[in-house]
Amino acid sequence: MARKICFLNYKGGVGKTSLIVNTAACLAKLGRRVLLCDFDTQSNASIWLMRLERWNKLNADGRGSVYSFFEPGGVRLEDLVVRNVVEDKMGRPVLPGLDLLPTTFNLVDLESEYTGDPRRPAYALFEEQLAELALDYDYVLFDCPPNLLRASQCGVFSASEIYVPSNPDALSLIGFTLLVEKLGKFHQLSAGFRRASMGPPAQVHGIVFNSIKTGVDIEVPKMRMQLRLNQFKSARRAAPQAKIFATQIRDAMIVRRAVTLGLPVNLIGQEGEAGLDASLQDNVVNDYRRFASELEQHAGVSAPLVPAHP
Ligand SMILES: Nc1ncnc2c1ncn2[C@@H]1O[C@H](COP(=O)(O)OP(=O)(O)OP(=O)(O)O)[C@@H](O)[C@H]1O
Ligand SMILES: [Mg+2]
Repeated sequence: MARKICFLNYKGGVGKTSLIVNTAACLAKLGRRVLLCDFDTQSNASIWLMRLERWNKLNADGRGSVYSFFEPGGVRLEDLVVRNVVEDKMGRPVLPGLDLLPTTFNLVDLESEYTGDPRRPAYALFEEQLAELALDYDYVLFDCPPNLLRASQCGVFSASEIYVPSNPDALSLIGFTLLVEKLGKFHQLSAGFRRASMGPPAQVHGIVFNSIKTGVDIEVPKMRMQLRLNQFKSARRAAPQAKIFATQIRDAMIVRRAVTLGLPVNLIGQEGEAGLDASLQDNVVNDYRRFASELEQHAGVSAPLVPAHP
């Protein structure tokens, strides 16, 4: 059965998209079948993996992105999936096994114009069809914006695990705290729509520090994060085995450049891109690889639902 995983923090810009794209690529390289669902209307993961030209066509067309699933007319999720999404400049697939459920800017309408059937919220419709599609995958990963509005709810409701990318600062800690509060409320609200086969609602299973500059000591922010995590675990508001990942992702210029190149960092050397610092690239690539294997070994179940604070 596919592991369904959300990367989420209420703090924006912490590296959710960079982590999910590069982790997905490392998992696919290991031979896993991965579906990355882009639920952020900014479309960063979709633009990154499809490259701008291909994504522009999708955005101009208005069809073929995840929002079409919610529009009248009943497009099936499986028809929206871009198979083996990563291609070289000649349009040849270079990373078999990594598929994308793409988004475009029209996903914003899910928050405002979408009315749907009030008895069946968007997240319940999505989960039902995803359950079938997920049978083809080892991992379904959800990239979400830094909130728990309707688009993110689709990922959170379908997921069984949540991981929190964080920077070593106070705002990431606040973002994590706010996330756990909001999760509790959402799980209560959505409890009536859960099917028996779904298992308990997703809790935080781990925190990963990202964009760590060389020589910067992160022990204090890490300790603060660990204390907060321990509090949530004691209150059964985070998964019993939730932890701060031993792997942390260093800050590296190649991660920022990878978006422009339209490749995950583990494929950049392979494409023979000129002018890149090979040693830097190798190091951060290994961080993502280590994170992917730590994630593979770190599975477990969420605790049963407990009431959120009023
Ligand atoms: N390890 C890293 N090294 C260097 N830059 C990084 C790293 N991780 C992320 N970045 C950069 O930080 C910025 C924010 O990253 P990213 O878009 O992944 O964050 P996000 O949490 O998805 O943001 P949002 O909340 O807007 O969705 C980007 O410019 C990205 O290239
Ligand atoms: Mg993002």
